[in-house]
Amino acid sequence: MAILDRHAILEKSPTLLFVTSLFVVTIGGIVEIAPLFWLENTIEKVSGVRPYTPLELKGRDIYMREGCYTCHSQMIRPLRDEVERYGPYSLAAESMYDHPFLWGSKRTGPDLARVGGRYSDAWQVDHLKDPQSVVPESIMPKYAFLADVEITPELMEEQLKTHRFVGVPYTDEQIENAAADFKAQADPDADTDGFLERYPNAVVSNFDGEPELTEMDAMVAYLQVLGTMVDFSTFIPDESR
Ligand code: HEC
Repeated sequence: MAILDRHAILEKSPTLLFVTSLFVVTIGGIVEIAPLFWLENTIEKVSGVRPYTPLELKGRDIYMREGCYTCHSQMIRPLRDEVERYGPYSLAAESMYDHPFLWGSKRTGPDLARVGGRYSDAWQVDHLKDPQSVVPESIMPKYAFLADVEITPELMEEQLKTHRFVGVPYTDEQIENAAADFKAQADPDADTDGFLERYPNAVVSNFDGEPELTEMDAMVAYLQVLGTMVDFSTFIPDESR
């Protein structure tokens, strides 16, 4: 009875009820929010994950602009059917340089988190231009126009700086070379030593096979890097976390 009596006191005083409710809610709030201050500790360090190259970043922008994420997720869940279909489940570290992340929540088409390297550049170009030409039953829209829009590295330096501002560790060297790297990645004849030093394991290719640098090059460069940064043949999960 004593507890009920004490509770009656609370219930009869709106101010006291408000203050004590606030106290209880605050505890819940702290429990939910505080871990975010130590977010760094919660992301397992994984070797291989690097910031996107300028061209990949451009492709990522086009991916967002075209709303590819409304049909494609980029998040393989640790469930057997997903891992068997798409490959190793997604690690938090793999999207730590994604601003914003593109995990998505709807799969009209397949998950793309590990689509990098699964198909040739030519397949990707054909598929983007006319999905039904390679997958007859596909309901994916055509994106042939990407091959007609030429792109320039004009704002790349600023964009890398902006990403650095929100925590992506782009170095001064990467920022200074943003424009050159943007072009070099799609030009197999360019001197790419510096570029590959700045972005280890990046794929250099004339992605769309045409001399002009277009949105198609950027889009395919982006698709080809998805899920390829971590080498899962040597990756050992840190079970202590
Ligand atoms: C209306 C929904 C829809 C939109 C929007 C869409 N796709 Fe698709 N996508 C699909 C479907 C369905 C498939 C499976 C059939 C196929 O391969 O075409 C697919 C397949 C793919 C595949 C092959 C994946 C695999 O593992 O076989 C890639 C790559 C892809 N889409 C990229 C893109 C990109 C890039 C965009 C944006 C420019 C995009 N999609 C927009 C529905 C969509």
